[in-house]
Amino acid sequence: SREELEARVMEVKKQLGSRLFIPGHHYQKDEVIQFADATGDSLKLAQLSAENTYAEYIVFCGVHFMAETADILTAENQTVFLPDMRAGCSMADMADIMQTEKAWGKLQEIFGDTILPLTYVNSTAAIKAFVGANGGATVTSSNAETMVKWAFKKKERILFLPDQHLGRNTAADLGVGLDDMAIWNPITNSLEHEGDVSKIKVILWKGHCSVHENFTVQNVMDTRSQYPNMKIIVHPECRREVVELADMAGSTSYIINAIETAEPGSAWAIGTEMNLVNRLIKNQLNKHIISLNPHMCPCLTMNRIDLPHLVWSLDTLEDENNIIKVSPEIAVNAKLALERMLANS
Ligand code: 13P
Ligand code: SF4
Repeated sequence: SREELEARVMEVKKQLGSRLFIPGHHYQKDEVIQFADATGDSLKLAQLSAENTYAEYIVFCGVHFMAETADILTAENQTVFLPDMRAGCSMADMADIMQTEKAWGKLQEIFGDTILPLTYVNSTAAIKAFVGANGGATVTSSNAETMVKWAFKKKERILFLPDQHLGRNTAADLGVGLDDMAIWNPITNSLEHEGDVSKIKVILWKGHCSVHENFTVQNVMDTRSQYPNMKIIVHPECRREVVELADMAGSTSYIINAIETAEPGSAWAIGTEMNLVNRLIKNQLNKHIISLNPHMCPCLTMNRIDLPHLVWSLDTLEDENNIIKVSPEIAVNAKLALERMLANS
């Protein structure tokens, strides 16, 4: 029963004390997040991994790329577990290392040595290693502006992997014109751009988050007409048109902070993953909160981590099940990319 599973988690936590660390991303289910030792957005979870030098077992409640990052940033004697190996990220899967190397070759032919690669942390360790080896860095939704500015101090143009929307939203907010951005299509291995390529400042990998692409301009218009006083806050993985029409945009921590510190009685439509929106609806009863899309959008892979998987993972720590171990050759360069970000955050 649920009570038995919950009691088992409590028992293992008590038994292992600080030898066990359970980080949880804000998109995790309530049944899991209630047991997290720390919760956060992607940046905070990466920072916590770098800071935690004592836990032997890190049971990561989030998705695969986050657990890889935790492994890269923790010490040799610390082991990272992912309670369900199927907890991937469809966006991270949209940039594969072979495609990226092919793309880089072509881009060098077109632009020479004028490009710096940046990758959203929502990417495989291999992509992070590629970026690290080529002088670039990782970014998260909470430091993307800082990191894009950092990149432009080094090179004339950037290649932004794998989320076109975060890349476009960030560059546009920094004043780069939409005409000066081009899409890189990894399937055709070519640039999608009409006109003079020498003007291109930002090359956006053609990837997206299938959860956040569900928030549409129509959703914004419907919300505005039904609730004229409602504020709209969205994650920057949403399309440019949606972010432009919204009142505010930012990472999961930014959204939580905005809602928690808002006036009692204020009304909010939130454009992000459903577990987080539902948690805010439940915990912030003095505010009127809805999802920007009435057909709520769950992240299916985040939801793969449930209470039974958490218990199973905790019960098999000694069996070396579900260990996330990035190979040393990849980890060393991926760490360069992550550390350049952490130093700027
Ligand atoms: P943040 O928590 O960093 O905003 O990331 C959101 C997300 O989609 C993670 O997969
Ligand atoms: Fe990936 Fe989107 Fe799910 Fe985040 S919400 S883990 S970006 S699919």
